[in-house]
Amino acid sequence: MDAKRFKAMVVEETDEKKYLRKITERSTDDLPDGDVLIRVEYSSLNYKDALSATGNKGVTRKFPHTPGIDAAGVVEESAVEKFKPGDQAVVTSYDLGMNTSGGFGRYIRVPSDWVIPLPDAMTLKESMVFGTAGLTAGMSVSELQKHGVTPDSGEVLVTGATGGVGSMAVAILAKAGYNVSAVTGKTDQTGFLEKLGASRVISRDDAVDTSKRPMLKARWAGVIDTVGGPILSTALKSINPFGAVTCCGLVASPEFEITVFPFILRGAALIGIDSQNYPYDRRVEIWNKLGSVWKPDHMEDMWEEIPLEEVDPKIDLILKGGVKGRVVVKL
Ligand SMILES: NC(=O)c1ccc[n+]([C@@H]2O[C@H](COP(=O)([O-])OP(=O)(O)OC[C@H]3O[C@@H](n4cnc5c(N)ncnc54)[C@H](OP(=O)(O)O)[C@@H]3O)[C@@H](O)[C@H]2O)c1
Repeated sequence: MDAKRFKAMVVEETDEKKYLRKITERSTDDLPDGDVLIRVEYSSLNYKDALSATGNKGVTRKFPHTPGIDAAGVVEESAVEKFKPGDQAVVTSYDLGMNTSGGFGRYIRVPSDWVIPLPDAMTLKESMVFGTAGLTAGMSVSELQKHGVTPDSGEVLVTGATGGVGSMAVAILAKAGYNVSAVTGKTDQTGFLEKLGASRVISRDDAVDTSKRPMLKARWAGVIDTVGGPILSTALKSINPFGAVTCCGLVASPEFEITVFPFILRGAALIGIDSQNYPYDRRVEIWNKLGSVWKPDHMEDMWEEIPLEEVDPKIDLILKGGVKGRVVVKL
C-alpha cells in the first residue's frame, strides 16, 4: 500500500545530549518492519514514556524516536490470518515506544504477536484508560492472589496510590473485595482515593520507618509497591506472616535496604512484576478481567483525555510525580 503521512511526537537528541520534543509529520515508510499496521486512535501516558522522552538510555537507545508504550486502534494492513483490516486491537509494552516507534504517533507497525484483539466489553478508549498501568496493576493483583492473599487475609497496601499503576491497583483491589490502604504524597487527594475504594489513606512520610529496626509490627497481608526505596523497605518489614509484596516501580528509588528477616521470620514473598515480557496468554487473561470482574466502579473519575499537542507538559509533570490517575492521549 502507498505510504501514509501522519502526525507524531518525535524526540530528537542534540549534540549536547538534550532531548527536544516536537509534533511533526512522519511517513509509514519510516516505521519498522512488522506484520500489522495499526491506525492509532488512543494512546496513554506512562512514567516510562517520560523516561523515553527525556533520553533515558535504559528505555530508548536511539533518537529521533516516537515514544508511547501503549496504543489502541484499528488494523489497516495485516500479513497474518489472525488480524484483518478493520479489527480493533491493543498493543502495550513489549518494545513498543522503547526502541520501536510508539503510540504517540497516528500509526504503528508491529509484530502480530504483540497485538491483542480489543477485549470484549471494552472500547478502544477504555483500553487506554487501563493501558500498561492497568495491566501492571492487574498483574500485581493476580500475583498476590496466586500467593494466597485473599480479601479475608487482611489489609492490602498500595503505594504511589494516585499514580497510574497505583490508582488502578486501588480500584481493582477494592472491586475484588479487598480492604485497601493507600500511600500517597498527595494527601489533598484523599477523597479521590476513598472514591476508588481505599478505606485508609496514609501520607508518604508516615509510610517510611526511620527507626532502622529490621522488623516492624505485622500490618499488611499484601502490598502492591509502585515506588521502591524506603517505602518498599518499610512495607516489607511490616508484612504479615506469609504475606506477599509485589514490586514494579522505581519513582522513589531503584534501591531499597532490607535484611533477610521478613523472609526467614515471616515467610514473606517479594514478587517482581515485568509487564513488558509478561506472557501473551496471561496478558489476555488479565485484559479480560479488567473488562469484566475487575472493571473499576468509578472509571470515569480516573482519567483525563488530552490531544497529542498537550503531552509535552504532562511528561514534565509525571516525572515530578504530579499526575493523578491516567492520561489518555487522543491521536
Ligand atoms: N515493572 C513493570 O512492568 C512496570 C509497568 C508499569 C509501570 N512501572 C513502573 O511503576 C512506576 C509507576 O508508574 P506509573 O506509570 O504509575 O507512574 P505515575 O503515574 O507517575 O505514578 C507514580 C506515583 O508514585 C508516587 N511518587 C512519585 N514520586 C515519588 C517519590 N519520590 N516517592 C514516593 N512516591 C512517589 C506518586 O503518587 P502519590 O503522589 O500518590 O504518592 C506518583 O503519582 C514507575 O516506576 C514505572 O516505571 C513498571
